[in-house]
Amino acid sequence: MTSQHLASSTPSDGPDGSTGTAAGALAHGATGTEAPAIIARGITRTYGTGAGVVTALDHVDLDVVRGAFTAIMGPSGSGKSTLLHTLAGLDVVDGGSIRIGDTEITDLSDDALTVLRRERIGFVFQSFNLLPMLSAEQNILLPLELSGKRVDRAWLETITEAFGIGDRLSHLPSQLSGGQVQRVAIARALVTSPEVVFADEPTGNLDSQTTEEVLEFLRLSVDQFGQTVVMVTHERDAAERADRILTLADGRIANDEDLRGQR
Ligand SMILES: Nc1ncnc2c1ncn2[C@@H]1O[C@H](COP(=O)(O)OP(=O)(O)OP(=O)(O)O)[C@@H](O)[C@H]1O
Ligand SMILES: [Mg+2]
Repeated sequence: MTSQHLASSTPSDGPDGSTGTAAGALAHGATGTEAPAIIARGITRTYGTGAGVVTALDHVDLDVVRGAFTAIMGPSGSGKSTLLHTLAGLDVVDGGSIRIGDTEITDLSDDALTVLRRERIGFVFQSFNLLPMLSAEQNILLPLELSGKRVDRAWLETITEAFGIGDRLSHLPSQLSGGQVQRVAIARALVTSPEVVFADEPTGNLDSQTTEEVLEFLRLSVDQFGQTVVMVTHERDAAERADRILTLADGRIANDEDLRGQR
């Protein structure tokens, strides 16, 4: 199974989200007729009240290109994590619209958001969060287990072989190398064939060798499986492995670089 697997298991998209903005143009430049995986318009998130109010996101417009690798950079406090969390339905916005496929997520109840995150979004956390008492395979299959979904053994085999962990599936996390742990965590994020995989500083705590591996496997998810990936990072070198780099400053998109063609 290749990218067709993901394409066929991904619900069809809503209407064309093109707005004629730079982001919209990029969204449609790369993938022809494919609609963006996520369309965000005018999203605003503030924290606190009165004199202490902080505007973490200030009317952000963004199309997340389907089947591409997007990096989000910017100084500390510029709103990167807030943007990632709001796009993923982990945090709510004060204003604006976020559509994942056909679904306007700002309208959803907490319960509906929980289901959406479980079934349509993949996460790679900085700490990777494998459960120590479960084998690699059980960790990878956990998202399916939680949502009561059937295990597609062929798909499991495809991703674990691609990640070079096919012969480590019965091992506990403590019996895996650091790099293998990260690969299990990325495989877990892919197992439901989610519409988008989000990663917040996935290489933040890693040595350079393991950082390289994580980036390589995120890249492989996009190139080999057609996955849509959004990654927050502080490191320019890491961001340059993506197809596009968005730079935030003071809760706004200050720069939008298209790197395809440079790789
Ligand atoms: N729960 C919160 N309550 C109050 N202010 C918050 C909260 N979360 C974030 N902020 C503020 O919102 C702004 C954006 O925070 P955010 O975490 O998105 O930044 P970031 O770009 O991810 O930074 P870093 O690179 O340090 O992770 C910051 O000024 C931060 O202090
Ligand atoms: Mg952050």
